[in-house]
Amino acid sequence: MLNKIPFRYTDDITAVNRAQFEVHIKLYEGYVDKINEIDGILAGDAGRDKANATFSFYRECKRGETYALNGVILHELYFANMGGRSAGPEAVTLRCLEQDFKSFSRWQADFIATAQASRGWALLCYDQRSARYRNISLDAHDIGNIAYSAPVLVLDVYEHAYFLQYANKKDEYIKRFMNNINWMEVAQRMNP
Ligand SMILES: [Fe+2]
Repeated sequence: MLNKIPFRYTDDITAVNRAQFEVHIKLYEGYVDKINEIDGILAGDAGRDKANATFSFYRECKRGETYALNGVILHELYFANMGGRSAGPEAVTLRCLEQDFKSFSRWQADFIATAQASRGWALLCYDQRSARYRNISLDAHDIGNIAYSAPVLVLDVYEHAYFLQYANKKDEYIKRFMNNINWMEVAQRMNP
């Protein structure tokens, strides 16, 4: 059983206003409810004997399982890496970004472009196979992830994340987010 993390709007959050934040939290809580519901179903029979890749109840459970669970995890990472009062990235983060993207400003430009190009999420993650950080683009919670990679910075670019406040000004939302990253949180994820 997954618990809901009680995220609260605080005055160090400048990327989104309270109304935008609170409606987004409701959506996050819906994902927690759904993964708990799915886990409950999968603990039982769940129609395994009729599992079929074209259509079956069990297939829907498996599709919903990764969609809902990634929805929970990505939202929790996103809410936790927004806000704070960081002046900029910590030394450890800066070193990694300079190594893998040549400079901080090149990483920044690439992360913004990744967010603009994505329908769901932009992630900075550590790809263990390549032994480097990458900016990756997800079109949905469960579409676009690299297996065996660890996200350290997460930006929600689904329209629900900004439309109430910014309407179609996605670029403005991304710009405000880039100036409101909790770099302490990112550094902790890089150095667990
Ligand atoms: Fe979201």
